[in-house]
Amino acid sequence: MTINQLSNLPNKSVMSPLDEPSMANVSDIQIQSKEDVFDAYVAHGGRVEASHWMPDAYRKTLIRQVSQHAHSEIVGMLPEANWLISAPSLERKQILIAKVQDEAGHGLYLYSVAETLGAKRKDLTDALIDGRAKYSSVFNYPSLTWADVGTIGWLVDGAAILNQVTLCETSYGPYARAMIRICREESFHQRQGFEALYRMFAEGTDAQRSMIQDSINRWWAPSLMMFGPPDTDSNNSAQSMKWGIKIKTNDTLRQEFVNTIAKQSRIIGVTIPDPSLKWCPVSGNYVFTQPDWEEFYEVIGGRGMCNQDRLENIRRARDDNEWVMDAAEKYEAQQGNYAAGDPNHA
Ligand SMILES: [Fe+2]
Ligand SMILES: [Fe+2]
Repeated sequence: MTINQLSNLPNKSVMSPLDEPSMANVSDIQIQSKEDVFDAYVAHGGRVEASHWMPDAYRKTLIRQVSQHAHSEIVGMLPEANWLISAPSLERKQILIAKVQDEAGHGLYLYSVAETLGAKRKDLTDALIDGRAKYSSVFNYPSLTWADVGTIGWLVDGAAILNQVTLCETSYGPYARAMIRICREESFHQRQGFEALYRMFAEGTDAQRSMIQDSINRWWAPSLMMFGPPDTDSNNSAQSMKWGIKIKTNDTLRQEFVNTIAKQSRIIGVTIPDPSLKWCPVSGNYVFTQPDWEEFYEVIGGRGMCNQDRLENIRRARDDNEWVMDAAEKYEAQQGNYAAGDPNHA
């Protein structure tokens, strides 16, 4: 059976508790079969499209993940956008403008992906502003110096790209395809951050080198947290892996990140702020200290340094631009009237 043939099976959403008991039993067997077929399809690498039948839980999990991802892109513009007017050269300003604009585009792609699953962008934004939706904890830390712009590119975008490259293979087609372009742009973000730090460290003053090291000291642990809690505490991971929504576990990705960054830090000349960081030839990995997971839960619980400020920015942007949404809705309604043959429609 193919995924398209699933649509010939009874849909769970049309079942009613008032069904005849005998029919309910038959349908239960078929429904079980329908979900089994779906699970087998994704387990064998099948790609799910918006028009396909999918279990409600799969849809809800995806909407949650994709909208959190979209929110992270939008909120993620804020720490660096503060530095647009203070960039030290025209070249750096152009690079930073391009990067921040890329992040806005990533947010738009991802909200569109969520819309293919039946979500409404306005509802998703409201959930973000009301504090009901999550976004990456890393964006609740302040960017205090110009070096933070380079560090965010190197560490934060570096962490993001590791996760996002795996999502190019995720089971939901629109999400996977959106990630291909996003990853190309994230690659540029990571490289510009690395290059900014490399040049400043090699050509700058002692004060600039200290500024870079201080920046890395502050962003290292929040970057490790970007992969989410340890696998043992990650409630949604097992099911997301089974459905092919998630390809690698939080701990696997975190280890890959540490391995990559530990090597790159030597090229720049900076020190990773972890005295336990050590290469282990047996495992083929760097041993490292876990971040403070209590701090992580505080930050995702809304009690980080910048949570209120970030959401206030998003709320202000929504309110300031409400007139655009109103105009768009009125225009859409007029088009609907026109299509329906409204004689009063000019
Ligand atoms: Fe992005
Ligand atoms: Fe990025």
